[in-house]
Amino acid sequence: MTLAGRVALVTGAGRGIGKAIAHVLTARGMAVGVNDGEKISAEDTAEELRRAGGRALALPADISRKAEVEAMVERAENELGPLWLLVNNAGVFFSGPTVDMSEEAWDRAFEVDAKGVFLCSQAVIRRMLPRRAGRIVNVSSIAGIIVRTNQIAYCAAKAAVVHFSRCLAVELAPHGITVNCLCPGMTRTPMLVEGARERGMDLAEMVRLIPAGRMAEPEDHAHLVAYFASDEAAHVTGQVVAVDGGQSQYLPLVRPK
Ligand SMILES: NC(=O)c1ccc[n+]([C@@H]2O[C@H](COP(=O)([O-])OP(=O)(O)OC[C@H]3O[C@@H](n4cnc5c(N)ncnc54)[C@H](O)[C@@H]3O)[C@@H](O)[C@H]2O)c1
Repeated sequence: MTLAGRVALVTGAGRGIGKAIAHVLTARGMAVGVNDGEKISAEDTAEELRRAGGRALALPADISRKAEVEAMVERAENELGPLWLLVNNAGVFFSGPTVDMSEEAWDRAFEVDAKGVFLCSQAVIRRMLPRRAGRIVNVSSIAGIIVRTNQIAYCAAKAAVVHFSRCLAVELAPHGITVNCLCPGMTRTPMLVEGARERGMDLAEMVRLIPAGRMAEPEDHAHLVAYFASDEAAHVTGQVVAVDGGQSQYLPLVRPK
């Protein structure tokens, strides 16, 4: 695949899935802008990528704030070159019964998981449009396509990302820019492992609901992102692909608790 020498910006790449995406894109010869809301995490990942022989720039910013996003995208293009790929990966997770959900948690889920995707996409497509070339990959979740109980804000915001991706794909198709959506299933990352521990959930029991018999590793998602970014995927747009070991296709024969 022909990614060498091109430039990517990956949000939330300080850890987890975003970090794995940054590593795989670096291994394929891309220069990578490493965004994260946690400055130290962005710097650590960028340093790791440089040690691995790549070109990488830490770009700490809160993707829910327009001014920070604009400055980040401008810096990425000034220091790395024209962006070929934006990966909207950063996300936050909230859970609990709907009746107890705070207004703040609802707002933050939509600010980061939905508005952040819009703000980053807008800043980047403004630059891609005159070049008539580029790729956007949005990271939603299988929680955006099937129901998970007690995750109302997360599910609704991730569903917004799915439909946002389809709408933007159609709008940008005449301009040579593709937009696709990746929906991870359960993936071994700090978000999942820490979240499960905090809620007293048994990871082994959760894995039993995955037909493939294991949770995803962050790299499982990174290879699909590299495909969406490639010249070979030029005619693939508006697609929503679950990487979940069959979890979103499986109907367990038990009543939800
Ligand atoms: N882990 C899973 O099982 C799973 C499943 C489905 C979807 N996802 C999605 O995949 C993406 C990555 O998840 P992960 O598991 O690697 O999560 P993670 O929490 O391990 O990593 C997310 C990163 O995003 C950063 N971030 C959060 N808010 C930000 C903001 N406002 N601005 C910039 N950076 C911010 C965090 O600092 C963190 O480094 C998320 O969108 C998540 O919803 C994860």
